[in-house]
Amino acid sequence: MVRSELQAVVLAAGSSSRFKTTKSKLCFPICGQELVAYPIKTLASMQIPTICVVGHQKEAVQAALSHHKISQLSFVEQPEPLGTGHALACARNVLFADTILVMNGDVPLVTEDIIESLVEAHLDAGAAISFVTSYSNDPAADGYGRIVEQDGKIKIVEAKNYNGNRNKDQQINAGIYLFQRSFLEKALPLLQPDQKTGEFYITSLIQYASECGMPIAMSLAPFDSIRGINTLKELWIAEHIKRSELISHWMNEGVRFIAAQNVYLDINVTIGSDTVISPGCILVQGTVIGSGCILGAYSHISNSVLHNNVTILPHSIINDTIIHAHSHVGPFAQIRASVIGENAIVGNFVEMNRSRIGASSKAKHLTYLGDAQIGSHVNIGAGTITCNYDGIKKHTTTIKDRAFIGSNNALVAPLTIGEGAMTGAGSVITDTVPDDALALARTRQVNKEHFVSELKARIATPLASTEKLTMKNPDPSA
Ligand code: UD1
Ligand code: CA
Repeated sequence: MVRSELQAVVLAAGSSSRFKTTKSKLCFPICGQELVAYPIKTLASMQIPTICVVGHQKEAVQAALSHHKISQLSFVEQPEPLGTGHALACARNVLFADTILVMNGDVPLVTEDIIESLVEAHLDAGAAISFVTSYSNDPAADGYGRIVEQDGKIKIVEAKNYNGNRNKDQQINAGIYLFQRSFLEKALPLLQPDQKTGEFYITSLIQYASECGMPIAMSLAPFDSIRGINTLKELWIAEHIKRSELISHWMNEGVRFIAAQNVYLDINVTIGSDTVISPGCILVQGTVIGSGCILGAYSHISNSVLHNNVTILPHSIINDTIIHAHSHVGPFAQIRASVIGENAIVGNFVEMNRSRIGASSKAKHLTYLGDAQIGSHVNIGAGTITCNYDGIKKHTTTIKDRAFIGSNNALVAPLTIGEGAMTGAGSVITDTVPDDALALARTRQVNKEHFVSELKARIATPLASTEKLTMKNPDPSA
């Protein structure tokens, strides 16, 4: 079948009642991407024009999709969640292709292959309806519609209405269907509500087609790939499966995960070969990691780019940051919205915010760099802080190439420290330091000879006399 003959409808208007959360289940992320975006993006990458049926929390569901900028996607509204059959009926007037692919919006792990196989089975059988099924004895499968074949007829019995044997390997409905549009036009107006729930089920269409003697085809898929997400537990399982897939992918690309089972990875993260990822790392929001990097344990890296051979020591938090090749960061560093040059070292307990540190510069210990523009080959002494905030505004500190900032400086911004300049340890620098100058801004040291022993002696004498007094008259009331 050529793609242009296909059109898809994704059902995403349900009320998510089994999630028991305020937010619609369709907006929850799996590996950083919203649940509903998974089937929609799969269809988009197959270039199938798609209609998404929205209703419950429609603004949120549409917003979750809009930032993916998917072409050939449009929306129709289901005013009330009256069931999957009713949701499909709401899209009836906008169906134009001869064959309509319908998918639940809560099946994130479905692959292009599963859809391709369904199309193939449909064409091979010359079917009016085809759908994807799976065999599983996983207890989770109990909640799915069962395929029941009897007397040459086929139907799907919803879990709530199923009284058959639950123990043996059961064939279940995946919630992915192909219909001839002409069949839908005839059958959708005939749908009747379920007696127990009052909902109109899409699955009733199978029984109807079968009773009319129409050819029906089924295509098999692995249960893990068609899991539907109705509860937070099912979301957790699906995310676990997706994350394992991502990690396997990067392992095949030469990335070493020391304890893959406790690394958290988003779908849009990329990692270069020969990189080593330690236990507990969290890599999210489109982070790009180069080759030959070492990511220390329990580091959280979000929306950042690490060039090749960068080392992140354990417990570092890096957001919205670019780190150039061969640099070292951490342990216990926090870097936000910053740029770190090649070969730089940003050490333990260093915080950087909206700052830039140049190539081969170092801030190795206990430092805060906020709104700082630091050149190359600069040394920032331990304990130095930029005082960038005056309570109203943030100000910039500029430190030029090869400057040497002594330990425990307070650099009061706005401030410029010139090229090759030095500042003395413990200085509070408030004014521009010219190139090549030494700035000292601290009180001069005074040594008072023998002061300590004399002080002790002075204190000791009156204490002794008090003691004597107390001894003489221990009870003042006597
Ligand atoms: C559905 C199938 C079941 C199948 C399972 C596979 C029906 C009646 N049952 O059950 O046979 O085994 O999927 O995962 O279809 N939706 C709407 N409007 C509504 C109701 C639902 O748009 O009024 C949407 C939901 O947002 C969801 C999808 O349809 O994305 C499926 O609905 P859900 O309630 O999850 O169906 P299941 O009970 O899982
Ligand atoms: Ca479902």
